[in-house]
Amino acid sequence: MFKVTTPPKMFAAMSLLMIVATVVGTGLIQAPFFRQAIIDREAVMVGDVVNALARVHGLSGADMRNYSEAAARERLDDSFGPLKQLPGTERVRVFNRDNVIVWSDADGTLVGKKRTANLDHLTRAAGGQVQAVFNTLKSDVNSEHPATSDESIECYVPLFARDAGRTGADVIGVLALYRDPHDLNRTIRNGLLLLWSITGAAGLLLFFALYKVFNVVYSRQVTAESKFSKLTLEHERIVQIEKMSAMGELVGEIAHQLNNPLVGVINLTQLAERQVQDPRRVSELLAEVRKAGTECRDIVQRILRINQSSRSTLQRTDMGELVQDTIAFCHHSIALKHSIAYAPPAHTHMLEVDPVLMRQALFNLIHNAILAAPQQQVRVALETADHDGAAGIALVVSDSGPGFSADMAPKLFKPFFTTRSNGTGLGLPVAQHIAMKHGGVVLAENVPAGGARFSIWLPATTTP
Ligand SMILES: Nc1ncnc2c1ncn2[C@@H]1O[C@H](COP(=O)(O)OP(=O)(O)O)[C@@H](O)[C@H]1O
Ligand SMILES: [Mg+2]
Repeated sequence: MFKVTTPPKMFAAMSLLMIVATVVGTGLIQAPFFRQAIIDREAVMVGDVVNALARVHGLSGADMRNYSEAAARERLDDSFGPLKQLPGTERVRVFNRDNVIVWSDADGTLVGKKRTANLDHLTRAAGGQVQAVFNTLKSDVNSEHPATSDESIECYVPLFARDAGRTGADVIGVLALYRDPHDLNRTIRNGLLLLWSITGAAGLLLFFALYKVFNVVYSRQVTAESKFSKLTLEHERIVQIEKMSAMGELVGEIAHQLNNPLVGVINLTQLAERQVQDPRRVSELLAEVRKAGTECRDIVQRILRINQSSRSTLQRTDMGELVQDTIAFCHHSIALKHSIAYAPPAHTHMLEVDPVLMRQALFNLIHNAILAAPQQQVRVALETADHDGAAGIALVVSDSGPGFSADMAPKLFKPFFTTRSNGTGLGLPVAQHIAMKHGGVVLAENVPAGGARFSIWLPATTTP
């Protein structure tokens, strides 16, 4: 069996089905219209012939009324007799305005009888309209003469008075012509066959064209998709490598940091072992060992603190107040008596942040600024600012220190990067981590007038 699996096959099956349905449907729907158009034309032609014959033989309205008179009979015979010669003609009846049969091609027994059934076509023809009807069932005039086939074409043609117009008032009678549809059916069959062949060929052509286009588009899409998935895999691989190397770097830095005091501990204990007879010296060495141990503990605690900044609890916070609190905290905790200038903004800025973490981030920036220029004022500001097209606010810390070199710029936010002898190299990375957790970023730039400017930018709607 034809198994529909791939989209092109599915498309082929569907479109073929649709085209076949359209072709068959068009043929079936058009056939009756086609037939009606033919019989309408034929009826008009019959009408013209009949009226011409009647005119030639001088048939009048009086003849239709007085149909039993010999002169009238003769004119009727002359006018309608020749119609039997028309190919396919089965029966001919002529009615006057009272629906009485005045002439029939069969025998004379019908003449004088009144038509009682199916009067609508007769009435319409009496109104001046040519009527053509295709009947699938046997039709009749008064049922006495069954038609020879199951199908028939009936033409109802108005007969007009001589030298008169062609309106309903000028109608003197109606001629009903019953014909065998055999010839017509053959014509229709041939016509339909032609119609179906043309639409079928056009449909097939359309189908192949569409299929070709679909195949090209589909194969392009498949190639693009496979390329894209390869790219995604490659990207994931790169990210993984980056992560691993960043972790390696971090671990190396931690090891390096811990190694120095640990080497000290080993050396000091070796010394103590050798001088075990001198308790004072041992006690001194042990004090050194404790110092080195404390240093190790501090390093470990700092690392743990970074980990703590991974957890945050958000609350709606007045950022102006947060800045003021942080400045006050700086004044208490940093030994240097330092001037920190802050002009509160005109509007309050409320943001969903973790205030503890945000204070820590700002504190780190202020602390750095103070250390960069210990004798000079640090300026803190809270401003509205856009970043990458997004609206937000910035906590800006500017100093008048030396700023940083172009070499340093890419390393500033790397863990453990420091240029200070007692620095940890964790202030900026922690601040950056906190900003990013709030959907923001820490930006660093040198001020042309001298000094550095570090700012924590946060989006107006934080998405941690
Ligand atoms: N305001 C500043 N002006 C100049 N350089 C700075 C400033 N802030 C930070 N830096 C540079 O960035 C480095 C890393 O800072 P940070 O991560 O806070 O670690 P630490 O303060 O322990 O050195 C500093 O050692 C310093 O070289
Ligand atoms: Mg610092």
